[in-house]
Amino acid sequence: MDPVVLAKGTLALNLVEKLELNYLNSGSIYRSIGYIAEINSIDLNNTDELINIGSSIIFNIKHDSHDVDIIYEDKIINNLIFNEETAKIASKISSNKALRLSLVSIQRSFAKEPGLIAEGRDMGSVIFPNAEIKFFLMANNETKAKRRLNQLKEKGINVSLTQLIDELNARDKRDLTRKASPLVIPDDALVIETDNKSIKDVQKEAMKHIKSSNQL
Ligand code: DC
Repeated sequence: MDPVVLAKGTLALNLVEKLELNYLNSGSIYRSIGYIAEINSIDLNNTDELINIGSSIIFNIKHDSHDVDIIYEDKIINNLIFNEETAKIASKISSNKALRLSLVSIQRSFAKEPGLIAEGRDMGSVIFPNAEIKFFLMANNETKAKRRLNQLKEKGINVSLTQLIDELNARDKRDLTRKASPLVIPDDALVIETDNKSIKDVQKEAMKHIKSSNQL
């Protein structure tokens, strides 16, 4: 993997593999609901429909790996949700308080032995407030956009850096100012600045903190 490509997902998956724990990518839940709403031309303000979609998705945790198959109407949709368009819709619907509430128990159900690495904006503040260890990764949007640009280039997709920065700024604004679970840094989280750091450095910092906390 390109050493500059570090997102919260990269760290989360690295820790999942190192520590052999379960994995929850909470963003994929909002993305799946957004994607399904979009392909079915559902009004994004229709809370009941969004909640129905959420309850009809099956998250199939595989036992031989840490992967989760996201299944809707008998189809695995994992490959269809990790794109900028779906991220935008996910960000829009994620400000819906009733929808968020309806997703709390499904997210908590991922917490099983031997433990869970949960990734997402309200993991430490709302879903798992008693988590033993919390990390909050910081990066400026230019750094994030460059990482994203590299990921997209690898897939042969061309977008401009300015466009990505603008989209990230708009998403941040929505995620920070929404009334339901706005993005907050929990008091007990270790904040890791990731600008100008390699993925290895960030991973080392996280592992050092985990070891020193004597939780695992
Ligand atoms: O982490 P991500 O980029 O896959 O998330 C996509 C969108 O979903 C993000 O813009 C906001 C929303 N989201 C959320 O509100 N709460 C979470 N725990 C995870 C994601």
